[in-house]
Amino acid sequence: MNQEKHVWWKESVVYQIYPRSFADSNGDGIGDLNGITAHLDYLKTLGVDVLWLSPVYASPNDDNGYDISDYRAIMKDFGTMDDFDRMLEGIHARGMKLVMDLVVNHSSDEHAWFVESRKSKDNPYRDYYIWQDGKESGPPNNWGSCFSGSAWEKDEASGQYYLHLFSRKQPDLNWANPVVRQEVFDMMDWWCRKGIDGFRMDVIAMIGKENYLDGVQKNGAPYGSFGASCTHTETTHRYIREMREKVLSKYDLLTVGETGGTPEQACRYADDHETELNMVFSFEHTELGRDPVLGKWSDHKVQLPELREVMNRWELELQGKAWNSLHLSNHDQPRSVSRFGNDSPLYRVRSAKMLGTLLHMMRGTPYVYQGEELGMCNPYFSHLEQYRDIEALNAWKQWVDTGIVDAQDMMRYMQKMCRDNGRTPMQWNRSANAGFTTGTPWIEVNQNYLKINAEDELNDPDSVFHYYRRLIELRHTVPVIVYGDFVPLLEQDPCVYAYSRNLDDKSLLVACNYTENKAPCTLFDGLEGTELISNYPTHQQGLLQPYEARVCLITT
Ligand code: GLC
Ligand code: CA
Repeated sequence: MNQEKHVWWKESVVYQIYPRSFADSNGDGIGDLNGITAHLDYLKTLGVDVLWLSPVYASPNDDNGYDISDYRAIMKDFGTMDDFDRMLEGIHARGMKLVMDLVVNHSSDEHAWFVESRKSKDNPYRDYYIWQDGKESGPPNNWGSCFSGSAWEKDEASGQYYLHLFSRKQPDLNWANPVVRQEVFDMMDWWCRKGIDGFRMDVIAMIGKENYLDGVQKNGAPYGSFGASCTHTETTHRYIREMREKVLSKYDLLTVGETGGTPEQACRYADDHETELNMVFSFEHTELGRDPVLGKWSDHKVQLPELREVMNRWELELQGKAWNSLHLSNHDQPRSVSRFGNDSPLYRVRSAKMLGTLLHMMRGTPYVYQGEELGMCNPYFSHLEQYRDIEALNAWKQWVDTGIVDAQDMMRYMQKMCRDNGRTPMQWNRSANAGFTTGTPWIEVNQNYLKINAEDELNDPDSVFHYYRRLIELRHTVPVIVYGDFVPLLEQDPCVYAYSRNLDDKSLLVACNYTENKAPCTLFDGLEGTELISNYPTHQQGLLQPYEARVCLITT
């Protein structure tokens, strides 16, 4: 008998909005809160329960809002606090919930705390950040930042260095200082009292720095890794438990940690007894194909066996212990249909639906990233000027400008992997700029918007949109999809990803052909059950058609 505890956030589907690229209401080329409010009915039609907003706080936008200069104010580009309140009201009026991004591993260097902190060694805010003396005229240790270069920046005023695991405009907050922790908890409480429904916690696994020893430096890598000292430490867990005690436990929230790591680590963050968070984001599947030196910069095409091995292992190791979130794309990833599926005109729709099926029938809370429900694709930008992302622009300097990587190769990697692939404007309709803005968009619109846009898909019962709507509806109406046990099937099959879900007398059979070839498959032959969803109107005996997905409910 399955003992899964029933809670709303396990029964929900979350929709991630990247506000900058969602909808522009005032023609300045930047998406904004009023743009979101204007499209709430669209999201209600899709049927999602929860909206997660990437950061909308005041920010100089060095990393598109992930560098916050005031945690209690709205970014000017996005509107005002009144706009926010109206949006929140609109979300709640439609029976949906709102999850805010919580970016507290670091702030912006333009946050008042840091402006004070860098003034002098004896400033009362000095200890809000991590300052150290250099070593032998260099930085305190060999750590590299996630966005290239050293993780330390020398500040001329005092001659000391401050730590920034991301860009130099994102100084790391000093969580070892109890005053900093209390500031963060008070701020979280303030948002909860405003009525928000949860937090997505940015790189939360990194808050507990345990030491500042040199990190492992892989062959050819210019810097050492900070991982062992900063990530998944006991100290991190202690801070999260304190956060739970002081804030999270007082409200009924959805909390999801951007933690990554291993299933074992996930079981600590997201264990069923809710000592820390409700669920985590894992990235083993989105990190497949990483290059030992260049990291994410590669053009590896993810194959079924490797994807299945990772995803099944996460499903099985969390089962009965912890809760996972299910995602194939977000604002840091390329478009899922371009990466895992096939975005050619012939197979885009089929493979987007197949990927949706594969993911949404699993155990965990599914996340839909804006535009994924339309089958939006990578834009394949071919000029550096078209890119905006600080991670990519820094990487270009590090690898191409130094002559280590050929420009053409790097451009190919960026077309596959750059975060901007998922950040091109939402494609609403066939009008100029896909209806995203009447002005000049901050990043180019994907030119395929005449073929791929929300308006056309709403009118086409066979669209990716309506398929996602049905997937979401199934999660709301068929309990085995939420609470059933996960059992992998056909684990050696070269083409078919198959599994079952089981709850009481119900069994769900899921099979997806991950390839563009016909794949032998007899799972459904002679089976008596109800087909819940499929991306093909008719089936063939003994095989799955290219990218075919089938889901069948059986009563035993
Ligand atoms: C997370 C965010 C990413 C951001 C980084 C630093 O990984 O998802 O967009 O750049 O943290 O805040
Ligand atoms: Ca705007």
